[in-house]
Amino acid sequence: LVPIIAIDGPSASGKGSVAQRVAEAMGFHFLDSGALYRLTALAAGRRGINWDDEVGVAGVAVALDVVFEGEHVLLDGAEVAHAIRSEDIGVGASRVAALPAVRAALLERQRAFARMPGLVADGRDMGSVVFPDAALKVFLTASAEVRAERRYKQLAERGEEADLTAIADDLRARDERDRARAVAPLVQLPDARLLDTSKLGIDEAVAQVLAWWSE
Ligand code: CDP
Repeated sequence: LVPIIAIDGPSASGKGSVAQRVAEAMGFHFLDSGALYRLTALAAGRRGINWDDEVGVAGVAVALDVVFEGEHVLLDGAEVAHAIRSEDIGVGASRVAALPAVRAALLERQRAFARMPGLVADGRDMGSVVFPDAALKVFLTASAEVRAERRYKQLAERGEEADLTAIADDLRARDERDRARAVAPLVQLPDARLLDTSKLGIDEAVAQVLAWWSE
């Protein structure tokens, strides 16, 4: 049985950084499931397929030709690590993620990341759908204000124009879509540990997850 740590939570909660650092500390593999939804949105866009076209986008998701190599993400053999992080593709990811056929198309691809010595999986439905038997489930969140500030900083670092009010509105819309969708909504599971990082730095959050793991 592959040991799995499932870390779920809303956008810009710090989940990605924490999950990645936990994986490094444990020597585990890392699954950034959001990246798969982002890649699907990007690939669909490039093929001229509308983000609301469920059958079309699911076809793109099934056939996704993607390679993760450290910092690199290759789509159809070309580097897209930067391209998938844009705000526009984030919106597209959130839209295609609401389509049940797209989620189904990505399910086995996500499960294939579970390999020895272990996996840290970051997303919305890691503990509920993809890895329901995960040994440790964490619901990682932060206040709406802190999350908007974190996303603002991320975008500013990329040199993307950002407006705090617009970001806060967008995060709210994205949360709403994540929580309200019929398939695999974002929920805090009864068996998940709650980690509120509003007042925690990354190091402290990582330390907390590692402490839970070694309990
Ligand atoms: O960075 P951010 O939290 O905005 O997004 P992400 O984690 O890269 O995921 C992009 C989008 O994919 C999110 O807005 C979610 O709607 C969706 N997603 C999902 O539905 N299920 C997952 N397991 C991961 C992401």
